[in-house]
Amino acid sequence: MTWVDELEQRAAARLPRDVYDYFRQGAGADHTLGEATPAWDAVRLRPRVLRDVTEVHTATTVLGTPVETPVLVAPTAAQHVVEAGGVVATARGTAKAGSLICVSCLTDAPYTEVRDASPAWWAQVYVLRDRAVTRDLVARAVEAGAGALVLTVDTPVLGDRPYPYPYPYPWPGSDAPWYGGRLLTDIAPEDIATATDVTFDDIGWLREISRLPVVVKGILRADDAVAAVQAGARGVVVSNHGGRQLDAAVPTATALPEIAQALAGSGAETYVDGGLRGGVHVLAALALGARAVLIGRPTLWALAAGSADGVHHLLETMTGELRRAMTLVGARGIDELTPDLVERAG
Ligand code: FNR
Repeated sequence: MTWVDELEQRAAARLPRDVYDYFRQGAGADHTLGEATPAWDAVRLRPRVLRDVTEVHTATTVLGTPVETPVLVAPTAAQHVVEAGGVVATARGTAKAGSLICVSCLTDAPYTEVRDASPAWWAQVYVLRDRAVTRDLVARAVEAGAGALVLTVDTPVLGDRPYPYPYPYPWPGSDAPWYGGRLLTDIAPEDIATATDVTFDDIGWLREISRLPVVVKGILRADDAVAAVQAGARGVVVSNHGGRQLDAAVPTATALPEIAQALAGSGAETYVDGGLRGGVHVLAALALGARAVLIGRPTLWALAAGSADGVHHLLETMTGELRRAMTLVGARGIDELTPDLVERAG
């Protein structure tokens, strides 16, 4: 059992069963969920030796923002069911670790509170059926100083999930959905559904209305990654939404290398998430071409187990594991994590 597995057990003991199930679930028969971590486990490394590894540094930049660690926090909805203002506690823990948080649009905390807790933050958005609501969300993200918009593109409809929303739903004390910290009393919940007619052109639209860099999350193919960058994206997140959308989607560890290779030299950055549970996984992802990784469920377990301190401890632990793994493969900095370190098993 890994350290993150133990953390999950602690969280499971504290969370109401249906909240835990909502966080943990995948989609369908959980094939994609189940393959995520084993795909990282299968990566084998060829370490370099006889390098002076007295000093090993994990600091890097993401879209020009300095971070102490390439382990970033993925957007996850409904952190308020763990604790009131959960996303703000997560942001505090993130900032203390010198990392960056990508905030889900499905949150009850105003962006300004997130920003005050963690100046390094990106806003995750969907293009909704009601584009005026999307525009309003984007305006508030810009106003609060988001460093980028992260457009999630793998959710034209929800995946086949047994536990669609955490209880009590819609949200505690309200009959209306929350979107980007705003209670949408004036809008029908069905208008909060994601639009099904979203295309690459919407990347340009979001850039235009925000003047922020746009990162496209949910890419699993090199041709889509190239098209997204041609449409104006500054980065992509290789992601299958933590196995919660298309069951049978390819593991991100498998999809990452061809996407990173296709974007090499374009100036766009490649990130990855899904099933990363330790420093060696992070090292493998960076060696395969990711600029940084995002962590989803473990941040929820950490929040449930220890609030802001729990999230801080999680990020510090994964970064410590990464530093040790870097030392053992003879890499003194993130830029020395190159594809020749990796050999695929099997
Ligand atoms: C998510 N994810 C997600 N993604 C997104 O773009 N917007 C969102 O609101 C959410 N909400 C959400 C809730 C919960 C409970 C989970 C577990 C995940 C997906 C998330 O950003 C990320 O892609 C995966 O969680 C990464 O996989 P791991 O680290 O959880 O294995």
